[in-house]
Amino acid sequence: MKLAVVQFAPVFGDLQSIIKKLETLLDEAKHADILVLPELANTGYKFDSKTEAFDLTENIESSVFIEFLKNKCVKYDFAVATGFAEKEGDKLYNSSIFLDKTGVKAVYRKLHLFMNEKSIFEPGNLDLSVFEYQETKLGMLVCFDWMFPEAWRKLALQGAELILHPSNLVLPYAQSVIPSYSLVNRVFIATANRIGTEKELSFTGQSIITNTKGEVLAKAGKKEEILMVEFDPKLAQNKMITPLNNAFEDRRTDIYE
Ligand code: ACM
Repeated sequence: MKLAVVQFAPVFGDLQSIIKKLETLLDEAKHADILVLPELANTGYKFDSKTEAFDLTENIESSVFIEFLKNKCVKYDFAVATGFAEKEGDKLYNSSIFLDKTGVKAVYRKLHLFMNEKSIFEPGNLDLSVFEYQETKLGMLVCFDWMFPEAWRKLALQGAELILHPSNLVLPYAQSVIPSYSLVNRVFIATANRIGTEKELSFTGQSIITNTKGEVLAKAGKKEEILMVEFDPKLAQNKMITPLNNAFEDRRTDIYE
């Protein structure tokens, strides 16, 4: 599996500029099997009000952004996981979608909203679930979900081999926990962060891809960058820590379920 993480700065509220930027970046990443883009990649992050957000978000079924990505998937035969400001009826969700050349295959809605997101988006109302793409078992989380080990664990227990994690990280230490989540769950993780600033917020870049031993396969700096790595996702099926210790079977769920 060739995995690419695309770190860039979406131009707030300017979908055409975002698409223009991604035109070049996705062409550069054309040899990947799966690409991961940051959180809210179709709009930018810092909405002033729900009304502003409502005007800028799209429905999955009629999205110019998704149509653009789908055309790239058709052209290059890759799949894309991207953060997506999603409108459904009168509700907004901070979502992550996974699509390939046939269209959208999975949707996840951020469960743990960060700061002012609570006045813009609804908390996710879909379960954490694992889906399959080209025989790899995938799960998705969005940004501040990183704080909640239960979310990573639940995906790993369902068999996720690779967790795709579109992000707009601002806290300076968030990336430091990703290797540990990989290690304790024995899964691959791809955190695609953004760069740049919006209003009072600075996004921290340093997108990261980690393996089942908690090793860093690739880490970005704080500029526009594409990370590309190749690995065997099936390594995530091995949960042995030592010949006598299995990361999942040794859990004392009788004590701490
Ligand atoms: C975040 O959840 N965007 C920090």
